[in-house]
Amino acid sequence: MDLTEIIPDGHTISEPKKLRSQEWFGRKGKDGFIYRAWMKNQGIPAHQLQGKPVIGICNTWSELTPCNAHFRELAQSIKNGIYEAGGYPVEFPVMSLGETLMKPTAMLYRNLVSMDVEESIRANPLDGVVLLCGCDKTTPALVMGACSVDIPTIVVSGGPMLTGKYQGRDIGTSDIWRFFADQQSGKMTEEEMFAAEACMARSQGHCAVMGTASSMACMVESLGLSLPQNAAIPAADSRRKALAHLSGSRIVEMVREDLKMSDILTREAFENAIMVNAAIGGSTNFIIHLLAIAGRMEVDLTINDFNTKALKIPLLANLQPSGKYFMEDFFYAGGLPALMKALQEKLHQEAITVSGKPISQNYEDAECFNTEVIGTLDSPFNPVAGISVLKGNLCENGAVIKPSAASPHLMQHTGRAVVFESIEDFNHRINDPGLDVDKDCVLVLKNVGPKGYPGMPEVGNMLVPKKVMDTGVTDMVRISDGRMSGTGFGTVILHVSPEAAVGGTLAIVQDGDVITLDVPVGSLNIAISDEEIASRKEQLSSTTKVAERGYTRMYQTHVEQAHLGADLDFLKGGSGSKVLRDSH
Ligand code: FES
Ligand code: MG
Repeated sequence: MDLTEIIPDGHTISEPKKLRSQEWFGRKGKDGFIYRAWMKNQGIPAHQLQGKPVIGICNTWSELTPCNAHFRELAQSIKNGIYEAGGYPVEFPVMSLGETLMKPTAMLYRNLVSMDVEESIRANPLDGVVLLCGCDKTTPALVMGACSVDIPTIVVSGGPMLTGKYQGRDIGTSDIWRFFADQQSGKMTEEEMFAAEACMARSQGHCAVMGTASSMACMVESLGLSLPQNAAIPAADSRRKALAHLSGSRIVEMVREDLKMSDILTREAFENAIMVNAAIGGSTNFIIHLLAIAGRMEVDLTINDFNTKALKIPLLANLQPSGKYFMEDFFYAGGLPALMKALQEKLHQEAITVSGKPISQNYEDAECFNTEVIGTLDSPFNPVAGISVLKGNLCENGAVIKPSAASPHLMQHTGRAVVFESIEDFNHRINDPGLDVDKDCVLVLKNVGPKGYPGMPEVGNMLVPKKVMDTGVTDMVRISDGRMSGTGFGTVILHVSPEAAVGGTLAIVQDGDVITLDVPVGSLNIAISDEEIASRKEQLSSTTKVAERGYTRMYQTHVEQAHLGADLDFLKGGSGSKVLRDSH
């Protein structure tokens, strides 16, 4: 496929307005001297700073973020495109967030990076920006930060890894959970686990399944913030570089057209992203990130908007963890444009994208090459899709479950609570032979929410106790105020709000309380009276420690609850791109 065939032409170039960068480089006297002179130490001829759109490439490259470790090469392709279109590229680093290494969780730092991005863009002579992101949190962090400045912006994702190959079978990140369960039950040895590591992560790129990184890449494409096919071209495929090159060219035109994020990120665009996330079986983390992005754009979006049941959107993509295939297969089957075409009657087709044209142009010529991987509305992979938002006395502000990755027989379930006060408590006792637990129990994990952990780690798909697994049962109802990896699965209720650490009802659940989950009705309740809940809450003493100093203190003091997107309260909205005062 030649990408130029599927990427729509930009709309006509109107009279250029005065470039923001000329507030720096176009100045006379001492100020202009200072703004230009030091840039010239990089070997830049004078004409590069004389009225060309200056395009920032916001790069999350880091060798500590393996999913983004190939970004210097991609940045070069973006630069080539920027030069070709008559712009001047400047690459700059921001803090990177690697999902696999960062403790206590990369999520703790999403908001910090968004501040880094916002301030870096605003403080510098940039007319437009390319956001180069890949591993889970890097995408929402960069988009959130850029929203609060609102200059022309385009996203280039790093692309997924090639499908892993282990002992003749296809593997990806979702297999880690299976491998671990097999190791626990003695079906897999330590040596086999070690061998599987290199077989899984065998190329550059982010997780090869429809985990959070790929859900985020689909999110930006369905929001209209990227060129078509951004979501699925593998990182190792040469067409990823071609897309980066074309995105570089396109951002220069966007500056000339003054096509900003606020022109693209309308309520309709957010609704498109929600419908697409349902149809791809996207990550539950998508909810938190999209809510935070909407908060920055001041678009009125609530957790209730994610309840896609009424829209009757089935699961169209047969991709792990909800299905069988991998991102590589998704691309060969036609990628997100082919899926959006199958979904088109549900979508807001007129929503504008970075091309300046309606999103329908991104998919109207798309073809599906493998109906095993991408289904249709009439013949979906699974009629159950999307996210169910739950409400009830155990989660007054909401909680979420991903039914397509859960067990159908547990969608309506009543069971006795087995309670863990912290993740350490859980790890310590879960395989204790004396633990009073059976397959019908409901595992409850407290204090893994935004404020309590802090940072809301991905521990919600907690391990099923070994003694239950030994009976052949692999899934149980599990409830927490934490998150789950986008690659995870199971009947897992996440994002319980308010969280235990701020005194939510979750905090007062005790062993033996009876909990009822009813996904078709959308409820999650604990069978104790309001009076009993109130009296138990009165006896609660807060055990949450707030960090004494540093970013973590700021985070714990200002983080909002999951149902609002877990952004910091003072970061809502934006401050625009104006800087009124000079530095010298
Ligand atoms: Fe980076 Fe999965 S660990 S995307
Ligand atoms: Mg993750």
